[in-house]
Amino acid sequence: MDYKQLVADTVAEAIDNQVSSAEIYAKVEIPKTAQNGDLAFPAFMLAQHLHQNPKEIAEHIAASIKTAAFAKVVAAGPYVNFFLNQEQVSEEVLETVLTERDHYGDNHDGNNGVVTIDMSSPNIAKPMSMGHLRSTVIGNSIAKILTKNGYRPIKDNHLGDWGTQFGKLITAYLKWGNEEDVKRDPIHYLVKYYVEFHERDEQEPELDDEAREWFKKLEDGDPEAVKLWQWFREVSLEAFNQTYRKLGVDFDTYNGESFYNDKLQSVVDTLKQDGLLEKSQGASVVDLSDQDLNPALILKSDGASLYVTRDIATAIYRDETYHPVMNLYVVGSEQTYYFKQLKAVLQKMGLQSAAGLHHVPFGLITVNGKKLSTRHGNIVLLNEVLDESVKMAQQQISEKNPNLANKEQVAEEVGVGAVIFGDLKNARIDSIDFNLNEQLKFEGETGPYVQYAHARAESVLAKAQDRDYAAGQHRLSGAEAWEIIKLLQAFPAVVKKANAEFEPSVIAKYSLRLAKAFNKYYAHTKILTPDDQLDARLALVKSVSLILKESLRLLGVQAPDEM
Ligand code: ARG
Repeated sequence: MDYKQLVADTVAEAIDNQVSSAEIYAKVEIPKTAQNGDLAFPAFMLAQHLHQNPKEIAEHIAASIKTAAFAKVVAAGPYVNFFLNQEQVSEEVLETVLTERDHYGDNHDGNNGVVTIDMSSPNIAKPMSMGHLRSTVIGNSIAKILTKNGYRPIKDNHLGDWGTQFGKLITAYLKWGNEEDVKRDPIHYLVKYYVEFHERDEQEPELDDEAREWFKKLEDGDPEAVKLWQWFREVSLEAFNQTYRKLGVDFDTYNGESFYNDKLQSVVDTLKQDGLLEKSQGASVVDLSDQDLNPALILKSDGASLYVTRDIATAIYRDETYHPVMNLYVVGSEQTYYFKQLKAVLQKMGLQSAAGLHHVPFGLITVNGKKLSTRHGNIVLLNEVLDESVKMAQQQISEKNPNLANKEQVAEEVGVGAVIFGDLKNARIDSIDFNLNEQLKFEGETGPYVQYAHARAESVLAKAQDRDYAAGQHRLSGAEAWEIIKLLQAFPAVVKKANAEFEPSVIAKYSLRLAKAFNKYYAHTKILTPDDQLDARLALVKSVSLILKESLRLLGVQAPDEM
């Protein structure tokens, strides 16, 4: 039940619909303090229509409303304050949550439309960085949020698996590489060869010539070059998949940059046909000056294609294959200008889904103050951060709950959950400094804090497992219970907001509020006392457990029943 809507409808009725309920709806507020009710309507907007002052209007409205869902309606100056009938509303909300369970908050806004999500997209033969972590976990959560809103997401990993760097890597590997080393620890050794290449090529410029030749061979399909490239790709992907498994993330497609090799010529042809391609100092560009953007460089003067050439091919392929209503790119904010150019080119080409192209940017991430970079020694590897987090969770659990049955698994869920939540609780665009110690605390704004509230709720329910509270009465009263009811009631709107803004932090922040409200309630309430509200309290605890778990699921975080 949308009580804001009810307020709008009721007010509209009280003034004989002289102003539409939709217009009124836009003005309904949630008061800052409980004293002023659960919802409030400022009457200013009606003064002109009704030729009365707002205070008189407020009084008139308050006096004429007799709706059972409102315990009282009071005029306070120009405001009409609505106090919901807590018992009735709690009954309604709890019954809805218990019936719909993890489907509570589902909606069909998306109309089954397909949304492609370009996410994660690390580069082959390089470590997956914390930046790629952000793209992976943000994209994964957005996919789940989209599904809950009735869309059909397609998660595509646009691997960086093509480019001149592979000429360098092949050269380096053939000169000083070792097959056994690469098999044992692929990313480590491939990075090592690459770094070594750059150290040596200053003294030995002929290395660059060799690298160019190898890349040319690779482009021409030379079997040896292709075989090595495929092998690098395969072992890198295996390493990435280990991380994805730990994070619990999967993809629908891994169509990396190389997938579009045979589709680039037709991009160039189409651009030419459309009269969009211009020569500029030997290179081919698309002029974007009408949109105040620099030209997009499509072909270098030697005819080589670029990152954007592949992205144009990618967008066309997605358009033809999936007919998406939106095409999201979860990529760091440093590529914002680039995606403006990409969108501008696609719009000039008249691509259908260009209008639904959204760059979903995110800020930089540092770990304990350290920046991430492949070229310099200062690398923080994602796998190491995850392993470290799980280890810390293990320690905490063995101190707090040494007899826990499936300690290992719970430590995984808590350790990994802490990293994911620690990222997603921040507005995407904010830069974050990631501190493992902070993120693993059971108190504060952390994943373990929300997980712990859920486990706490489950432990209460376990004690009452023989009771059929779902069939009982659910009219609940009390200020702390009411806080929770209001939060539960808000969940469907939270799900919509997170979707509209492509913003998992909306869900994360909500889950923190719900966990906090529940902990307060838990601390002050004898939940299991056998009185006439016992069933209502248990229904409340169950609802909290369900919605905390569902919120965490939407973030890609597990919710263990015990921890
Ligand atoms: N591989 C790129 C990087 O690591 C990200 C690719 C983003 N996706 C895209 N379609 N351009 O920076």
